[in-house]
Amino acid sequence: MQERKKKIVVLSGAGISAESGIPTFRDSNGLWEGYDVMEVATPQGWAKNPALVLDFYNQRRKKALEVTPNRGHEILAELEKDFDVTIVTQNVDNLHERAGSSHVIHLHGSLFESRSCQDETLVYPIKGWELKLGDLCEKGSQLCPNIVWFGEMVPLMDVAAQYASKADIFIVVGTSMVVYPAAGLINYVSLDAWKYVVDPNLPDMKPMPLLKMFAEKASTGMEKVREELKNIR
Ligand code: APR
Repeated sequence: MQERKKKIVVLSGAGISAESGIPTFRDSNGLWEGYDVMEVATPQGWAKNPALVLDFYNQRRKKALEVTPNRGHEILAELEKDFDVTIVTQNVDNLHERAGSSHVIHLHGSLFESRSCQDETLVYPIKGWELKLGDLCEKGSQLCPNIVWFGEMVPLMDVAAQYASKADIFIVVGTSMVVYPAAGLINYVSLDAWKYVVDPNLPDMKPMPLLKMFAEKASTGMEKVREELKNIR
């Protein structure tokens, strides 16, 4: 008889993609690659200047296509050999998938999808790097990037919380844990679950049982977590 694989749930943030060459958000004084976040990542910003918003995400998409997954992404993908792994990422790049992770929940949307301005259930893949003014949905409305902007609901939060509540092991990697509701995911995790945090600048975390923190980059920190997991497989 086969034993059930233990469930790992990972909450990842911008830091896991840093070693691939994608800058994190909060390292630059509220500016995001030189842009004011409120201008490019809010419904108000979109209403005010859609061309600017499209250009901003086009540049992010182009960059994401140029870079490759790093060791941190790869180790998470390799854990699928021994564990049932769900990645909940705040990142809009696709580096987890490209590293081989098969179950990735994009809490904040995806750079590689567009959605209709008129009907947000109409979602389409974006081929290539560019989404333009005049690219329309089947109902004739402008398409915008399928990103969950500041001030919007996070539609996949409930699903993510369900996974977190069933995790045997919860790994937080490369996130400052300041953006909610994503940062609140840890509150759904069982007291009996092992919890690991990997980040060179460890986020503030309330004390909890079975918590281990590694003040390291994703690549080296995830290697250490993997060693730890050998004992609790
Ligand atoms: N490896 C791991 N972590 C790293 C690395 C690295 N090589 N380099 C930096 N970090 C850490 C930083 O120390 C920081 O704690 O990554 C974290 C990045 O934090 P943020 O820039 O705040 O990114 P994130 O937590 O993903 O932001 C959450 O906020 O801007 C919005 O919607 C956007 O999804 C994003 C959300």
